Amino acid sequence: MNTLDSFPSQVRVAIIGASGGIGSALVETLARHPRVASVHALSRSPCTFSSPKVAYGQLDLADEDSIRQCAGLASSEGPLDIVIVASGMLWAGESLRPEKSMKELDAEHLGRVFAVNAAGPVLVAKHFLPRLRKDSKTVFAALSARVGSIGDNRLGGWYAYRASKAALNMLLKTLSIEHARLWPQSVVIGLHPGTVKTGLSSPYTKHTPGEKLFTPPIAAGYLLEVVDKVRNSDSGGVFAWDGQRIES
Ligand SMILES: NC(=O)c1ccc[n+]([C@@H]2O[C@H](COP(=O)([O-])OP(=O)(O)OC[C@H]3O[C@@H](n4cnc5c(N)ncnc54)[C@H](OP(=O)(O)O)[C@@H]3O)[C@@H](O)[C@H]2O)c1
Repeated sequence: MNTLDSFPSQVRVAIIGASGGIGSALVETLARHPRVASVHALSRSPCTFSSPKVAYGQLDLADEDSIRQCAGLASSEGPLDIVIVASGMLWAGESLRPEKSMKELDAEHLGRVFAVNAAGPVLVAKHFLPRLRKDSKTVFAALSARVGSIGDNRLGGWYAYRASKAALNMLLKTLSIEHARLWPQSVVIGLHPGTVKTGLSSPYTKHTPGEKLFTPPIAAGYLLEVVDKVRNSDSGGVFAWDGQRIES
């Protein structure tokens, strides 16, 4: 378990997308951590956690009022130290699958994926960044993906997912600049969790070698190590599970 000692003791956390594979593993790992005082587990679908440190709240990224209300509730006992947006969308049933070629491009599909992967996290930032502690290091992170790197795009395909994550990375960079003006110790980053065995990745991991397919608890542990290590000079960047910076 990483130390989280770059934060003050009694760390307060909010996880958005707590019903997901990686989100639920983040909630459980943080709730077991001795330096963590409380975890606000926020998601659209209801979910339960056994630790008394965890408080559940309903948050739908498509409903800004629910984001505003959850931000108020999550910070009612005091400002937050860590906020992680672990929600995201790659496919939804048979009708919405990542595009293999431009023939499959569809405006409605593009809009749905952008709404969840880009607009959702930036609206979370709008309401949660002002709720962060001001006098010590804080981290606002959103789960991005290596395929959102423009420089790293060698295979093509997956238009909506790639472009929504590239947009997310730009939104995070822009937020980092504005937020640092009043919160100089803040860190705003994107995180790539590696390939993780979850519902999101399940149709696409048949050929992933076992050692490159992380379980959600393993991925959560790696991501929290990155959250602990980053400094304010890293703000605006995107980092992989092993701490390596990913090019834009
Ligand atoms: N798994 C991987 O290999 C992998 C690789 C690279 C990046 N990532 C990124 O990691 C993040 C987490 O993915 P995961 O693998 O844990 O996926 P997952 O198990 O499918 O979880 C996705 C989460 O997103 C939430 N979500 C979707 N639409 C939402 C909305 N409108 N409002 C609120 N929540 C919404 C889901 O909530 P509901 O339960 O309510 O649907 C769920 O909590 C995503 O951003 C993904 O792009 C994953």
